[in-house]
Order: sequence, then structure tokens, then C-alpha cells
Amino acid sequence: MSAALDLIQQYSQTALAQLPAPAQQLLQNPIAQKAAGALLGLGVLRSINNSLSQWTSNNWTCNQRWDSSKELVLLTGGCSGIGKQVMQDLAQQGVRVIVLDIVEPTFELPATVSFYRTDITSSESIAEVAKQIRKEHGEPTVLINNAGVGNEGTILGKTETKIRQTFEVNTISHFLTVREFIPAMIRANHGHVITVASMASFVGLVEIADYSCSKASALAFHESLRQELRHYYNAPRVRTSIIHPYWVRTPMIKVLTDHEQYYGEPIMTVQKVSDAICKQVLTQNSGQIVIPGRLAIGSIVRGLPVWIQEMVRSKESVKFRYMRTQQERIEREAKEAQSKD
Ligand SMILES: NC(=O)c1ccc[n+]([C@@H]2O[C@H](COP(=O)([O-])OP(=O)(O)OC[C@H]3O[C@@H](n4cnc5c(N)ncnc54)[C@H](O)[C@@H]3O)[C@@H](O)[C@H]2O)c1
Repeated sequence: MSAALDLIQQYSQTALAQLPAPAQQLLQNPIAQKAAGALLGLGVLRSINNSLSQWTSNNWTCNQRWDSSKELVLLTGGCSGIGKQVMQDLAQQGVRVIVLDIVEPTFELPATVSFYRTDITSSESIAEVAKQIRKEHGEPTVLINNAGVGNEGTILGKTETKIRQTFEVNTISHFLTVREFIPAMIRANHGHVITVASMASFVGLVEIADYSCSKASALAFHESLRQELRHYYNAPRVRTSIIHPYWVRTPMIKVLTDHEQYYGEPIMTVQKVSDAICKQVLTQNSGQIVIPGRLAIGSIVRGLPVWIQEMVRSKESVKFRYMRTQQERIEREAKEAQSKD
């Protein structure tokens, strides 16, 4: 042991001697040495923390190697935005993908992709399409609950129908698809359920009350599903992942992308989110992913003192309100100009 320590000391002294004089002085400074030690310690803690999260998420079981010929991905909402990108990226890797969407694709599907027009809020439609899928392709081994809706407006400004639709698509449908497709995964002790949630799972803002409730529910659904798989169904190799993206440039947030100069928050590409989802699929790791990663801190907002929580939510709401005011001004001016013509 002491021989090894001597060797390390000798090696570091030789390495130190190669550095320029100012760098040598800095590294010999006791404060700099303590800071470097603390950084190293933090780095070690971080990787222990990451490993613990990964192993726990995977129920302390190793991953099997991904084999496209044995896997079948069922993806909801694959005709637009994030889902469309995921479908294309998986197809490019030779993965067979079944898309369920309420609208027909307006583009040509890759060779490994099949489309079934389905309203995922109806258990009858899901059961009917499931029969067809089983007959034509076999059992899905990966379920990506991606389809979603987001309606603009305040709690008082939205219709009851729109509010109910948000819950039906963003939350209830997860129960329906999982109830249909997870029994086969449990029997095989192999599979993956991926929930596309949102940063809105953690923070409620103006105009997204229904959306935020539905995404907080999607998170609760994911957590309970994990627990049931582990403690009731003894299926530790059925993976579960949840993805929480911040704003993504898709038709869903057209009101923001049309006026983003007044909003001032970064809007991600669908590629960034698709990369994260495809990584979960292909590595077969469970996980909770916040995109971008620097916003992972958002998940602890509700655990902070109330005044800090309110500050965080108000900061975002004020930006949204400002964007709305500008949108209304632009629309008013356009109307006035039209009436003058
Ligand atoms: N765009 C964002 O800023 C953002 C941010 C965080 C999370 N998300 C989430 O990402 C997911 C994908 O959203 P997107 O931004 O790509 O939106 P999008 O509107 O581009 O795509 C949503 C897809 O879901 C389909 N769909 C809607 N209702 C359906 C139903 N009843 N049955 C079957 N399909 C239905 C739509 O037809 C569409 O193809 C959603 O769950 C959304 O909440 C989006």
C-alpha cells in the first residue's frame, strides 16, 4: 500500500515539474489544493449518486442487449412534433414502430413503421387496434405514451370540454394503454413504458392549470406504475422512464413560437427530446429525465420555502403574461389597420 502511495507521489511530482512555474505555484497553494480536493470529492459523490439512481431505477438488474428484431415500439402521437421525430429516429435505427394517432400522417412513413388511426382516450378503440397489432406484428415490447394536448386559456377562460380533453389525453389514456399492453410485458418480465410528461409536472403557471395538473398526474402515474411492477407483479426487468421537457418547438405551442421574441425563454428542437427518448429505448434503462438537464432543479421547487416557490412561478407567469399582452396588441393593431383599408 505504502509502495503504491510512494509511486503516486513520485508520479505526481514528476508531472508537476512539467507544468509552467505559475501553474506549479498555484497547485502548491494550500487553498487551491483544498479546492481541488473538494471538487474531486464532489465529482466522486456525483458519480456514486448517478450510479445509485441508475441501479435503483433498473431494480438492480442488468440490461439485456437491444435487439431490433425482437422489439416492437408502440408510440402514441407519432404524426407530429416530438413523436414524429422519435418515430423517424427509431426507424432510422431499423426499429419497428407502431404509431397510434388520431390524425393520419401527412408524410410518407419509413418502411419499418405502421400507422393505426386511434383515439387513445377510448378503451374500445385501443382494444380493437391492439387485436389488429397483435395479429399483424406481435406484442409491443416498448410503449411510449407521448400523445398530448395543450389548450390555451385561464381556468375561467377554457371550456369544460377542453379541460376534460386535456385530462383524457394527457393522463387517462396512460391508464388505458398500459392496461392493454403491460400484461404481456409482465409475463415476459421484459419491456419499457415511457411517459412523456413536462416541466409542468413540477410547476403550475398561468394558463396551464389543466395541462399542469395532467402532467403532475402523469408523473404520479409513472411513480405508482414502478411500485406496482416491483411489489405486485414481480417484473423488475420491465423498465419505466419519464421525460420532462421544457418548451419544445412543435405545433402544440404555436402561440409561443409565434411570439417568442416577447417571451424570452429558450425553445428546444424536437431532436433534443427525441435523442433523450431514443436513448432510453435503445439502452433499455429506466430513468427520470429533465430536458435541458440544467433545469433538473425544477423538480424540487415544491420542497422549497413558499416565498421561493412563489418567486419561481411568478417569474415565469409574468413573462407569459407579457407575451400575451404583446400578442393582443399586435392582433388589435392588425384589426385596426384592416378596418382602415
Ligand atoms: N411542445 C412542448 O413545448 C412540450 C413540452 C413538454 C412536454 N410536451 C409533451 O410532449 C408530447 C408531444 O407533444 P408535441 O409538442 O409533440 O405536440 P404535437 O401537437 O406536435 O403532437 C401531439 C400528437 O398527439 C396526437 N394526439 C392528440 N390527441 C390524441 C388522441 N386523442 N389520440 C391519439 N393521438 C392524439 C396529435 O394528433 C399529435 O400528432 C405531449 O405529451 C406534450 O404534452 C410538449
